[in-house]
Amino acid sequence: MTSVNSHHNGSDLTVLGIETSCDETAASVVRGPFDRAILSNVIRSQIDEHTEFGGVVPEIAARAHIEILDRIVAQAMREAGCGWNEIDAVAATAGPGLIGGVIVGFMTAKAIAMAANKPIVGVNHLEGHALTARLTDDLEFPFLLLLVSGGHSQFLLVKGVGDYERLGTTIDDAVGEAFDKTAKLLGLPYPGGPHVEKMAARGDVERFRLPRPLLDRPGLDMSFAGLKTALRTQAKKLEPIDEQTVADLCAGFQRSVADVLATRTKSALEMFRQRYPGTAPVIVVAGGVAANKEIRASLLTAADDAGAQFVAPPLKLCTDNAAMIAWAGIERLQAGPVNDMSLSPRPRWPLDEANAGVLGAGKKGAKA
Ligand code: KG4
Ligand code: ZN
Repeated sequence: MTSVNSHHNGSDLTVLGIETSCDETAASVVRGPFDRAILSNVIRSQIDEHTEFGGVVPEIAARAHIEILDRIVAQAMREAGCGWNEIDAVAATAGPGLIGGVIVGFMTAKAIAMAANKPIVGVNHLEGHALTARLTDDLEFPFLLLLVSGGHSQFLLVKGVGDYERLGTTIDDAVGEAFDKTAKLLGLPYPGGPHVEKMAARGDVERFRLPRPLLDRPGLDMSFAGLKTALRTQAKKLEPIDEQTVADLCAGFQRSVADVLATRTKSALEMFRQRYPGTAPVIVVAGGVAANKEIRASLLTAADDAGAQFVAPPLKLCTDNAAMIAWAGIERLQAGPVNDMSLSPRPRWPLDEANAGVLGAGKKGAKA
């Protein structure tokens, strides 16, 4: 491992992080674990490239990452005021995600690491999300994480660096994906989440009672595909639907999702208490869906009812970013020497590899 610069605090490390697993091209320089300082955090969203297709197109995403990543990295280094000499390692997402983008980011990171003679850390994107609350809120292990984004919907027990247990997951669509598909169905623009939320604010939540899939079953798994289908059925019956009906459907949908997440959160917190009696339970929420005010409020209430602490990192660090990748790199390096030069990018990469494949049905990896 390379030496730590003298002006660094204790054994702090300065790490360049790179994230390209979906439709954000991002680079960031973070110093930690003691400083916990985000020296730069550059994110370039590809929403404009994908809007006309109503979703992320993998080939377009990979091409856009190639075109812009060099500049994003240079900008992150410049804003951090860092030269390569001050960087201790390069960390990049090595999966799970859209494989074209992951290859672009991880190979670029390997090239930089080789040229600058620094160690490379291949970070699991989900590990980035899982450890973010330690960067933002200095959280101690263990804690619960509810990750709800366009690609992932899962409850994770975060026990330590590299020690994660997936307690439950969606067996079909991710929550954000369900929001996006619902929006598309109702003629609202992509990405759908914010538009559905805006319409829902004007809707009558009582008009359509949509299902709460899987809640009759124990455990922490979730399902959102049936909800979307139920909504489609209702919409079809009333065609052509007016704006108020769209708003009412959005309100019903959003309430249903919030109920499912809150109910499962309560069970997750109970599970936590049984597992760690005497440890105050903490639930962290991350992912783009965490921007939703009704969902946030429901989760906060669920945590309050369970006597648990609710932590929601700032939105910019909840959604895909490279600061979380740099931070995960710091945590991994802190735990011992790392050299992932021979690691290959992977589209699927469950955090708890020991339990991988147990589920059998439903999506895995990036969508799990
Ligand atoms: O974490 P994120 O930015 O990217 C990944 O998917 O990794 O999450 C994006 C997802 C999209 O599906 C988007 O529709 C959803 O988060 N989203 C929302 C809201 N804002 C973004 N869903 C519900 N309500 C919102 N306000
Ligand atoms: Zn993500």
